[in-house]
Parts: sequence; structure tokens; C-alpha cells
Amino acid sequence: MSRIRTHIGDITRLEVDAIVNAANTSLLGGGGVDGAIHRAAGPDLVQECRLLNGCKTGEAKITAGYRLPAKHVIHTVGPVWHGGMEGEPGLLAGCYETSLRLAAANVCKTIAFPAISTGIYGYPAELAAETAVATIRNTLQDLPEIDTVTLVAFDDVAHAHLLKALKRNED
Ligand code: APR
Repeated sequence: MSRIRTHIGDITRLEVDAIVNAANTSLLGGGGVDGAIHRAAGPDLVQECRLLNGCKTGEAKITAGYRLPAKHVIHTVGPVWHGGMEGEPGLLAGCYETSLRLAAANVCKTIAFPAISTGIYGYPAELAAETAVATIRNTLQDLPEIDTVTLVAFDDVAHAHLLKALKRNED
């Protein structure tokens, strides 16, 4: 039974141990899902983020969830798409792997990801879904303590890419 599932909707509504934010290196908020998470969490979130001293692309940092139903927010910074020849796939994989390891280290058994980098950062959704599913599948083998990973699509088109990647990457 796979520990990976999908969901179409707003990640800020999910009652999980951790939701992942597609942030920028400042960690001080932005548009897209970053903006939605900060709006839903309230002003205490950015106050805690100020203490984190930013985050490098491909890495992740964790905060409380404040007014969100999720207990924690794991802030990760995806790569901006420049055509795929500047290390983007490896950096995107790093976002998923470091976020999962950080979740496990903070006793988060359920975690939800948005489609990192596929919005403002322009990463092709189909390629991003492939990297996400492959990386999550590999990393989960090391992390039996994680019960469920939810891949959140904001619309049906994004959801179709996730389903295709899950099917193509079946064991
Ligand atoms: N719930 C789930 N998914 C969402 C939500 C939401 N509430 N809002 C947006 N998304 C989806 C988008 O449709 C896209 O598929 O999240 C995915 C990531 O898009 P962005 O939020 O634009 O993130 P990204 O492409 O990684 O760009 C990050 O945007 O908001 C700024 O500060 C952020 O500079 C950073 C950049």
C-alpha cells in the first residue's frame, strides 16, 4: 500500500503534521502558495521566519504552523527554471528529500507538498512531478516513521501530471 497520495485543493486547509511551503531564499513571504500560507498562518509565522536567516535553494527549514490546521510549516526553496541544464532537477529533488528528512526529524508523520517551483519559478509541471515522485519514493525507503505524503495539486491539470508520474514510477 503506497504511502503517497494526491489531493486537489488548498494546502493551507490540510490538517497534517507539516505542510511544505514553496518559499524564496529570504523566507519572508511572497505570492503563490507562500502568500497563501503566510496569510492563513498569521503574522507570527513571518516573525519566526525572520529568526531563521533565510534558506538556500534546495534546502528546507521548519517553523510552527500558528493559525494553520497544520502543526508545522517546512519552508523549502525550489529552483527557478532556466531550461533544465543548470542543476534544476537536482535542486528540486533536494527540496523534497530535505523536507522529508526534516519532517521525520521533527516527528511529523503526515506531510503535504505543493508542486514546488511549478508556478512563479516556471518549472514544467510534468518534469517537476517526475522528480517529486521519484525522490519521495526513494527517500521514504529510509523513513519508515513517515506515514503519509500528500501531493497537493491546485487544479486538475496539475493533478493529472501527478497521477501520470505516480503511474510511470510504480514499483
Ligand atoms: N495550495 C496548494 N497549491 C498552491 C496554492 C495553494 N493555496 N497556491 C498556489 N499553489 C500552487 C501553484 O498552482 C503551483 O502549482 O503551488 C505551486 C507552486 O507555485 P508558487 O506558489 O508560484 O511557487 P514557486 O513556483 O515555487 O515559486 C516560488 O513564488 O510566491 C513566491 O515567495 C515565493 O519567490 C517564491 C516563488
